[in-house]
Amino acid sequence: MMTDRPFTFELNAPGFVPSRYDNHIRRTISSMRGQYHDTAAYEAMAAEGDALLYEVYELARPHEAGELLHGISIVHPGRVGDEYYMTKGHFHTVLETAEIYVCLSGQGMMVMETPEGDWAVEALVAGRVLYVPPCWAHRSVNTGDDDLITFFAYPGHAGHDYGTIEQQGFRKLIVARDGRPEIVDNPRWGEKIMRNDE
Ligand code: F6R
Ligand code: ZN
Repeated sequence: MMTDRPFTFELNAPGFVPSRYDNHIRRTISSMRGQYHDTAAYEAMAAEGDALLYEVYELARPHEAGELLHGISIVHPGRVGDEYYMTKGHFHTVLETAEIYVCLSGQGMMVMETPEGDWAVEALVAGRVLYVPPCWAHRSVNTGDDDLITFFAYPGHAGHDYGTIEQQGFRKLIVARDGRPEIVDNPRWGEKIMRNDE
C-alpha cells in the first residue's frame, strides 16, 4: 500500500477558499429543478439566467474506507420564492456513514432525516460543530445575508445517493416568514409517501 505523507492547507483566503484543492464544484439553479416547492418562482428565476447557488472545494482522496473526504462548502445567500438557497442534499450510498461539519462563517440550518422518517434541524453559526450520525440525509440551507461556509469531512467509501431526495425532497422545508426562517412541512414529501404506500 502507498503511504501518503501528511499534508496541510490554509483557509485564510477571502471566503475560506482552501489554499489547495482538487475539484471546484459549482451548482446553479438549473441543477436544482424540482427541489424548490414554489415551481413558478423557480421557473421565473431559471428563465433569467443560471444563477450560482452554491460551491464546493474538494480535496481529492481515494474513495476508500479509512480515508476522509473533506473540503469547504459555500452556500450563497438568496431565495427561490420563500425558500432559501440550499444544497441538493443526499443520503450516503453506504448509509451507515457519518459526516462532520464545522461552520466557519454565516448563518444557516442543516436539515436532516432518516429513512424511517425521523427528522432534525440544527442551526449553523460560526464556530459550531455539527455531527451528522450514520443514516441521516443532510442538506445545508443559508438563512442569512452572507455566504454560509462550512468545512466537512466524511468517510472515503461513503458515496452519494442524490436520487432519493430528488424524488421526494426532505420532510421539512426552511422558508422565510416575516423575514425569519421557519421550519414547515414539505407537502410533496407526504404525497410521494402516500403514493409509495398504495
Ligand atoms: C459530502 C457532503 C458535502 C456536500 C456539499 C454539497 O458528503 O455532505 O460536502 O456534498 O455541502 O451538497 P450536495 O452534495 O448535497 O450538493
Ligand atoms: Zn454528505
